[in-house]
Amino acid sequence: MKFARITGTGSYLPEKILSNHDLETLLDTTDQWIYSRSGIRERHIAADSEFTCDLAEHAARRAIESAGRKPVDIDLIVVATTTPDQVFPSTACLLQNRLGIHDCPAFDVQAVCAGFIYALDVVYRQIQTSGSKCALVVGAETFSRILNWKDRSTCVLFGDGAGAMIVEESDRPGIMSSHLHADGAFKDLLCVPVGVSTAYQEILAGRAYTEMQGKEVFKWAVTALGDAVLEALEANDCDQSEIDWLVPHQANIRIIRAIARRLDLSMDNVIVTIDRHGNTSAASIPLAFDEAVRDNRIKPGQKIIFEAFGGGFTWGSMLLEY
Ligand code: ACO
Repeated sequence: MKFARITGTGSYLPEKILSNHDLETLLDTTDQWIYSRSGIRERHIAADSEFTCDLAEHAARRAIESAGRKPVDIDLIVVATTTPDQVFPSTACLLQNRLGIHDCPAFDVQAVCAGFIYALDVVYRQIQTSGSKCALVVGAETFSRILNWKDRSTCVLFGDGAGAMIVEESDRPGIMSSHLHADGAFKDLLCVPVGVSTAYQEILAGRAYTEMQGKEVFKWAVTALGDAVLEALEANDCDQSEIDWLVPHQANIRIIRAIARRLDLSMDNVIVTIDRHGNTSAASIPLAFDEAVRDNRIKPGQKIIFEAFGGGFTWGSMLLEY
């Protein structure tokens, strides 16, 4: 049986840091409100001249290097993003060109904050069934571009960044299971309500912004993610006590704590970056994972759960051995 294993990781954060105290000077908000409700202290914001593919390229090159690979070894590229550089070509094709890679499948996946899990699921299944041997999977966002900087209920929560993984065919596990979910009935609770087909004038006028009914999203996220992590354990006949690390999507520290409780896991076994990154949407899991691999918290052979929840709603979980 073929397995899919993560063999390299990389990430990138734009240089500019926007703290809660900076936001206090722009909005009717406080560091105390933002930190107590979300766990966020600061976030990174892309420079005006920096786009999603730029962030993705930095993260991808670091992941390729850490896997001891060269761009020429890559035979599949999947990018999860809500904020592509262009309507088309996909950010994956733009990235492929930057890396000088020719003739491998390259495409984007759009599942908002659950996007990285969706993209990793595609890569996992491509390796198992379609002969891909060395895939590059990236989560990259310039979410700051789809925020209304006058809406304090949303703009304080998000940040920009990118994370990447190299996933290779292997004869030992690897990704052990993946469960994806979506329910479009909740499309209005968390959305950018316009797109190129429905309201191109608003996009040209720069009014394509994120809207969220935070309380409703919060309730659904806690329930859906709690169920999704238990689904991952059950599918692998795995006990909670066998899990070394939870690497959650970083939307809100209170959601993260609730899921850790559901897993009976100490917060010492949870990778948290939300205080410094905010919610970087599809980039948050690979950013957090790369940080913990590089500082030697996550080690080879350990069992890890990923979980994410985002607009759609979309959500899912993944269990893997690193
Ligand atoms: N500063 C100060 N006050 C604020 C701010 C702010 N930045 N934002 C809102 N408030 C006010 C509100 O106006 C409200 O005031 P009111 O009671 O006078 O009307 C009050 O604070 C309370 O607001 P709530 O919405 O009740 O705050 P809550 O405790 O629910 O926290 C939050 C809000 C942080 C958004 C939380 O609901 C949340 O994290 N939701 C889930 C987010 C999430 O998981 N998203 C999924 C991924 S994102 C994606 O897919 C794109």
